[in-house]
Amino acid sequence: MAERGPPHRNCASPLRFCISQRMQGERRNMTFFKKTTQEIFEMFPAFPPVPKPGVDGCTCAVVGNSINLKGSHYGKLIDFHDFVFRMNRGKTQGFEEDVGTRTTHRAMYPESAMNIDNSTYLVLFPFKIWDLQWLVKAFTNIKLKNGPSKQSVMVVHPAFMKYVHESWLEGAGRYPSTGCMVVILALHLCDEVSLFGFGADSDGNWSHYWETLMNKRLHTGPHPGSVEYDMILKLAKHGRVDFYSGR
Ligand code: C5P
Repeated sequence: MAERGPPHRNCASPLRFCISQRMQGERRNMTFFKKTTQEIFEMFPAFPPVPKPGVDGCTCAVVGNSINLKGSHYGKLIDFHDFVFRMNRGKTQGFEEDVGTRTTHRAMYPESAMNIDNSTYLVLFPFKIWDLQWLVKAFTNIKLKNGPSKQSVMVVHPAFMKYVHESWLEGAGRYPSTGCMVVILALHLCDEVSLFGFGADSDGNWSHYWETLMNKRLHTGPHPGSVEYDMILKLAKHGRVDFYSGR
């Protein structure tokens, strides 16, 4: 990573010259990285539309994928927010009563991608160069029927991950989870932030509300789950977020 310190206020700002080459087994060199980011710059808007904190007065719900949403009846409350951030395979169909119906932003990766419609922003926190290539490919080869336009793609600066890891998690774990990064992104973008769907199950695993966990040794993967959870509790205690801890 070439940059240090918190990113620009507009944290969905364009990718610039920086990436951790070792992250998630990355073997390609800087030249390749630069070529890929150039393609990203040519294809997607440099400044995607984001709410202006304090001006647009926006409220945001960030919905993690925790099993604690099951039976929570949070659906209507979640949908009441101006923006609803979801991530990866977090489903709404069949779970509306607990998780709501609206999705204005979805953070996802090639490995966790799902179809999204043209009313949803695709948010990418690049973990590796392939994530950027995937984005370019998706908008080059395939005609995304009713899918998002290039205008609704937000690529977050890779330095944002480093910032969250160092400044918010004090370097714990290998790297922050997507959920944690969306929480911090929302704190930068929104006037009020409500959190739903965060928290491990009683065995300490990050199980999902829509499925039965098969791998009982999942824990919280490479992410510092308990540090992230403590961070959320602290933010709630200081009134920076409203935290709905589920059932
Ligand atoms: O499992 P997945 O990465 O799709 O979940 C999205 C996010 O939700 C995670 O990155 C994590 O921050 C949060 N999560 C959680 N507790 C769970 C499951 C997920 O806090 N039981």
